Amino acid sequence: MRNLNVAVVGATGAVGTRMIQMLEGTSLPLGEVKLLASKRSAGKQLQFKNQTITVEELVPESFEGIDLALFSAGGSVSAKFAPEAVKRGAIVVDNTSHFRMDPTVPLVVPEVNPEALRQHKGIIANPNCSTIQMMVALEPIRKNFGLKRVIVSTYQAVSGAGNEAMDELKNQIEDYLAGKPAAELKAEILPAGSDKKHYPLAFNALPQIDVFDKDDYTFEEWKMVNETKKIMEDDTIKISATCVRIPVLVGHSESVYVETEKPASAQAIKEVIAQAPGAILEDDPTEQLYPQALNSVGKKETFVGRIRKDLDVETGVHLWVVSDNLLKGAAWNSVQIAEKMYAMGLLG
Ligand code: A2P
Repeated sequence: MRNLNVAVVGATGAVGTRMIQMLEGTSLPLGEVKLLASKRSAGKQLQFKNQTITVEELVPESFEGIDLALFSAGGSVSAKFAPEAVKRGAIVVDNTSHFRMDPTVPLVVPEVNPEALRQHKGIIANPNCSTIQMMVALEPIRKNFGLKRVIVSTYQAVSGAGNEAMDELKNQIEDYLAGKPAAELKAEILPAGSDKKHYPLAFNALPQIDVFDKDDYTFEEWKMVNETKKIMEDDTIKISATCVRIPVLVGHSESVYVETEKPASAQAIKEVIAQAPGAILEDDPTEQLYPQALNSVGKKETFVGRIRKDLDVETGVHLWVVSDNLLKGAAWNSVQIAEKMYAMGLLG
């Protein structure tokens, strides 16, 4: 089989730079690697293995001869350019929310629903970062004990909002420590770039990720609800979410409450998670061992701990789930989808 020509769209961004890293370690046979971004970055040089690659401005013709295009440059860029890539014969793995709920587009976490890839029509959607890590933790529970209900609260890192949001937080921290009052901290992006008001994240917690939508839930919260049902192919799962941005740079944490169909002991849950692909059990209160955002940085796995039974509900269990939002939540899940497609004979 010939080598695959790959394009990274949004190559200079928080996720794009991790996509490049993940491609450096991929088992896929790579041919040309093309790095695409906006006009602003054209001419910038980036390293890929021992090559220096010049970033090019994204145009429809960028996809001539490309087999695989990984997109992470925002929903409007995907809306316009993913069809251009498919028209030219590329398979697109899209990290934005633009195509996720399109019934003709598979939404895939390789540990959970790889078979959905067979239905693709050129575009595969990468789920929301918070959804992906929760799926890795919940799938072994669903498979062994059934899943009736999920209530999740997230503690999300700022890198999910991109490089500029990370810079905004760092500047606020510096200014606050230098004595600037909270009311004077510069906030132009968070909690949501497109919303009317902006608040500082430094030394704060913002219970808004993305804009508000139906029933006073945010769009991020709806993503977790709708994407879970689509990935698990089960509309009967009861699920609601509260998504919170905290001043962590990388690594999303989640407090997840689950009600199973069949009662399961905490030990039984720990055993199925310890065996699950992509999951690592970190759970030993006697040693103060539990997943931490800082420790997840740069790792592809999802870490699960603090597993304990609910005090009142017989089928209720609580978990703490942590993963690098830029890797399993975005870049690694995208490259992993491509590797899975290659192994299934769907790519190349
Ligand atoms: P650029 O660096 O040239 O602006 P992040 O998620 O960290 O904010 O990064 C967003 C990524 O998407 C960057 O690589 C950015 O490129 C890219 N991007 C943003 N707008 C466009 C566009 N209109 N066309 C192509 N790439 C874009």
